[in-house]
Amino acid sequence: MVLIAVAGGTGHAGRAVAADAAGRGLKVRSVSRHVPETAGPGRVAGVEHVAADFRTGDGVAEALAGVDLLVETLDARTGPSLKALPATTVAVLAAAQRAQVSRCVLLTIVNAAQSSMGYYQVQAARARSYEASGMPTTVVYATQFHDLVAGIFSAGSRVGIIPTFSGVSFQSIATADVARVLVDEAVAGLGTGAEVHRSIKAGGPSVWPMKSMGEQWKSATGRRGVVASMPLPGSFGTFLRAGKNLVPDAAVGRLEFNDWLAAGPRG
Ligand SMILES: NC(=O)c1ccc[n+]([C@@H]2O[C@H](COP(=O)([O-])OP(=O)(O)OC[C@H]3O[C@@H](n4cnc5c(N)ncnc54)[C@H](OP(=O)(O)O)[C@@H]3O)[C@@H](O)[C@H]2O)c1
Repeated sequence: MVLIAVAGGTGHAGRAVAADAAGRGLKVRSVSRHVPETAGPGRVAGVEHVAADFRTGDGVAEALAGVDLLVETLDARTGPSLKALPATTVAVLAAAQRAQVSRCVLLTIVNAAQSSMGYYQVQAARARSYEASGMPTTVVYATQFHDLVAGIFSAGSRVGIIPTFSGVSFQSIATADVARVLVDEAVAGLGTGAEVHRSIKAGGPSVWPMKSMGEQWKSATGRRGVVASMPLPGSFGTFLRAGKNLVPDAAVGRLEFNDWLAAGPRG
């Protein structure tokens, strides 16, 4: 049976990847530094959870033993872990090569290379490592997750404001839709004739003005707060207003933001 490893399988996207792969009848191994408790959040039914640290190498050889396919959904937000993330991704690829993994698939963010924000630059560097590795790889460039946009509204509503950035739209996508694309790409790598390197874009089903999404979120969650338009300063604001977070030609997601909200709770 095909064994797929999800590097970061306890994370937000990683859990969806593990669930998707398990649902297809693949053998799935989630690899992360912390292994969730038997019934705890982060544990996906039917998935083997093992502990390893791709940054230090602890436990990695054992974690990748017998693995056929690997999907990388690692992330770090701040500090030394974020700084080290490009090197951690290089380490993932090196370990996968040693383990003779047939294809590695990376999840990253659309047009990250076009933003000067440190976090996006890190994501772009990781994608370049996959492209340059010479190994069979795919990079999936996804738009923002529904949860990320909802998280902005949720955080603001705690102080009575549902913030929406003027001139900004999102084409947000459900993690289940991203997961489907990632696992499709991994599985395609088992066949003969797959290109050595592939780049795929994955966007949500529709582009929505952020203001409209804020109103949808308020109505679905019943949370209090004024839906307020405000400018987002800085280079990230410029990036978003230029629509660089959008890929209307790659609207592969199926679950709309409002349907995702309806499947809640999303407060
Ligand atoms: N959020 C969005 O809207 C969005 C949109 C498009 C693309 N993406 C991309 O999606 C990717 C995944 O994001 P996410 O939000 O799912 O991340 P996340 O929830 O923070 O999950 C990160 C995962 O990586 C594991 N991890 C981190 N460092 C590790 C290490 N050294 N060794 C082993 N495991 C490690 C974490 O578990 P432990 O901490 O237990 O190790 C966790 O399982 C990122 O590259 C992000 O840029 C995000």
